[in-house]
Amino acid sequence: MTALLEVRDLRVRYGHVEAVRGLSFSVGAGEMVALIGPNGAGKSSTLNAIAGLVRPASGSVKLQGRELVGAPAHATMAAGIVLVPEGRAILGRMSVEENLVMGAEARPWPAGREEAQAAVEQQFARFPSLQRRRHALAGALSGGEQQMLAIARGLLARPVILLLDEPSMGLAPQLVQQIFQMIADIHRAGTTILLVEQNARMALKTAQNAFVLERGEIALHGPAPQLAADPRVQAAYLGGDVEAR
Ligand SMILES: Nc1ncnc2c1ncn2[C@@H]1O[C@H](COP(=O)(O)OP(=O)(O)O)[C@@H](O)[C@H]1O
Ligand SMILES: [Mg+2]
Repeated sequence: MTALLEVRDLRVRYGHVEAVRGLSFSVGAGEMVALIGPNGAGKSSTLNAIAGLVRPASGSVKLQGRELVGAPAHATMAAGIVLVPEGRAILGRMSVEENLVMGAEARPWPAGREEAQAAVEQQFARFPSLQRRRHALAGALSGGEQQMLAIARGLLARPVILLLDEPSMGLAPQLVQQIFQMIADIHRAGTTILLVEQNARMALKTAQNAFVLERGEIALHGPAPQLAADPRVQAAYLGGDVEAR
């Protein structure tokens, strides 16, 4: 079986800074993979390169066997690579509903507008707190609701693979739990996910497989529970006190 997403020897440079240094990994269909690592490790650069927002210096990014490296963001989006970027990037001066409609319009729907509208309503059914605030300006939502909106909008683009960049960033602990629960539900419902997180503890609890990125390279990788039990991961990323599970 070939991987759904196959990244080979990816390199990203900004001038003299080599942010990603020959990264290789793959994500299988239906899988949730976590990419963890410290600030500045190259996690966002990796996602942005996969999504076509940053042009890699070299390497290969294949989705369902099709080479997409260097393709612009609209082309990777058309192919089904949907990125929910760090900092959410919702449109604060548009309503919640308008944000979702824009997500639904990112890719054409086989059955047209009505199908898109029905999909928006489905997201409202899934996220009652967005439903209650559908006419509010997105910028007026709480951080947790904005993250929820950003993910719901991404889902409306019907991802072949959903890339999430630090969805829990800046959220209070209780909201962090909620967002991870929501991501787990989305994965369970069949979406393939590549999750970037600094919250290693939650990421390793939620994902199946994980890669630890350090200075643009993979330092460790394996099944998430195995990494969570690895003393090196515990010392560096879990505060050394991961509970037995
Ligand atoms: N647009 C940019 N221009 C120059 N350097 C950048 C840019 N984006 C990121 N970097 C640098 O690349 C490295 C990796 O950054 P990033 O991919 O954002 O890491 P992470 O998401 O893991 O925190 C860092 O050293 C960062 O300063
Ligand atoms: Mg980042």
